Amino acid sequence: MGKTATASSPGFDAVPVSSPGPLSEAQIRFFHDEGYLSIPPIATEAEVAELREVYQRMFARRAGWEDGNYLDFAGPDDAEPSLPQILMPSQYEPALMTSRVHAQCLAMARQLLGPEAEFHFDHAMTKPAQGGAPTPWHQDKAFYTRKTTHRTVTFWIPLQPVAAEGGCLRFIPRSHLGPLLQHRHLGGDGRVHGLEALGLDDSQAVSCPLEAGGATVHHHMTLHGAATNVSHGERWAYAMGFGIRGTTPIVGREYAWNRVTRTAREARFQNSLVGRNRVSYRLRALLVQWGLL
Ligand code: NI
Repeated sequence: MGKTATASSPGFDAVPVSSPGPLSEAQIRFFHDEGYLSIPPIATEAEVAELREVYQRMFARRAGWEDGNYLDFAGPDDAEPSLPQILMPSQYEPALMTSRVHAQCLAMARQLLGPEAEFHFDHAMTKPAQGGAPTPWHQDKAFYTRKTTHRTVTFWIPLQPVAAEGGCLRFIPRSHLGPLLQHRHLGGDGRVHGLEALGLDDSQAVSCPLEAGGATVHHHMTLHGAATNVSHGERWAYAMGFGIRGTTPIVGREYAWNRVTRTAREARFQNSLVGRNRVSYRLRALLVQWGLL
């Protein structure tokens, strides 16, 4: 018997490329070499239609507002958002956790990262037609805090076809090999949730247009972004993060850009906590601001 062929990328153990599951050996290799992968539709038309109904409900009632999970990615005013998003939408719509799309992505994550890969977060995103803000270049790891113990990959699934003019995702191949670039809050405004990477070269960027229910998956270090949606339809997308849980946090000290975060969403989250939890969260936030964590 020869040695089993494996693939790996920074932060993750090597995995066999021939593991059973939806992804082919070539796809597993491509992901680890390039830091991203584009996948043909994994959701049927009916499943996409169900997800669209969930989105309609969640965004109409601004699910997660009180918890700070409903937010504007690109501006300081969550009440008049230019890029409305909901963090952890499955907390408000549990059907998202039992969908076949979820199971498919978990199976692929286990092929890419190993059998211990587990669900870590999800994220519902909308982008208005003709003129919503662009999603700036960023690395997801820039959002990590000192408490993060998961190393993740993110699946991104559009709920309608998405071409370059509709704001499909763009990736910079092999940027997952590092380094983590300096980031800042959009426009240097700590009241804005979104982060943007500084000093990058996007001349090698690759666009990934997708059919409805198709998917991309990217490593937590891969530089990615999306242009303004200049198409005539809203762009809705569902993201799910799966990862390997470590025993210790993977960020040594808080990143400088996260020391100046002053978002309204953070304030609402803090207000949603009670008693000792609120006091300890506030204390920790002050220590971060003062550069002590
Ligand atoms: Ni991202």
